[in-house]
Amino acid sequence: MFTSIAGRAVVVTGGSRGIGKGIAAVFACNGARVLITGRSEQDLAATAEELGVSYLAADVASKADCQLVAGCAADRLGGIDVLCANAGIFPDTRLADITEEDIDHVLGTNLKVTILSVQACLPLLARSGRGRVILTSSITGPITGYPGWTHYGASKAGQLGFMLPESPEAVS
Ligand SMILES: NC(=O)c1ccc[n+]([C@@H]2O[C@H](COP(=O)([O-])OP(=O)(O)OC[C@H]3O[C@@H](n4cnc5c(N)ncnc54)[C@H](OP(=O)(O)O)[C@@H]3O)[C@@H](O)[C@H]2O)c1
Repeated sequence: MFTSIAGRAVVVTGGSRGIGKGIAAVFACNGARVLITGRSEQDLAATAEELGVSYLAADVASKADCQLVAGCAADRLGGIDVLCANAGIFPDTRLADITEEDIDHVLGTNLKVTILSVQACLPLLARSGRGRVILTSSITGPITGYPGWTHYGASKAGQLGFMLPESPEAVS
């Protein structure tokens, strides 16, 4: 039997478009209170109006911004029951041409947003008593590879390495 998500407080990083927008729409349609994040205020405002959700412009590759997101969720949603750590980038660069900056950009976004956003939201997730984290990884990396996405695949496989369960005592 499924548990209703009506009334749950849900944060979706990268919720302004694409997969994150779809995730936010499904939660909102089922009665959850949703906060979406992204960097473009313009995209966020349009999506928030369309879905009837709340938004905050934040760069979740920044620890300070992740803390702002958690604080905003506490103020506007009263906490966090579900964090969807979805924000990510996938620039296409062949391995022979990848620069150090490309590596820093992809790993520093995809892996960092995962770790920092979950870390910032941990106290509220623990306080919820039913906190859940949903990561958007990919088949690219953990399952298969694709030319141009070696650094991306490494970042997506890295997310699975991060997804190790900690005991409730460790996070509370
Ligand atoms: N598309 C696919 O086929 C596919 C397949 C498997 C997995 N995925 C994964 O699914 C996730 C979403 O992909 P998508 O296709 O929906 O991408 P998308 O349409 O480009 O959307 C990415 C979202 O993440 C946000 N974002 C990116 N960097 C951010 C940052 N530093 N801080 C805050 N927000 C940031 C973007 O908003 P701003 O640009 O305004 O910041 C946008 O809302 C990614 O993690 C991706 O790796 C995608």
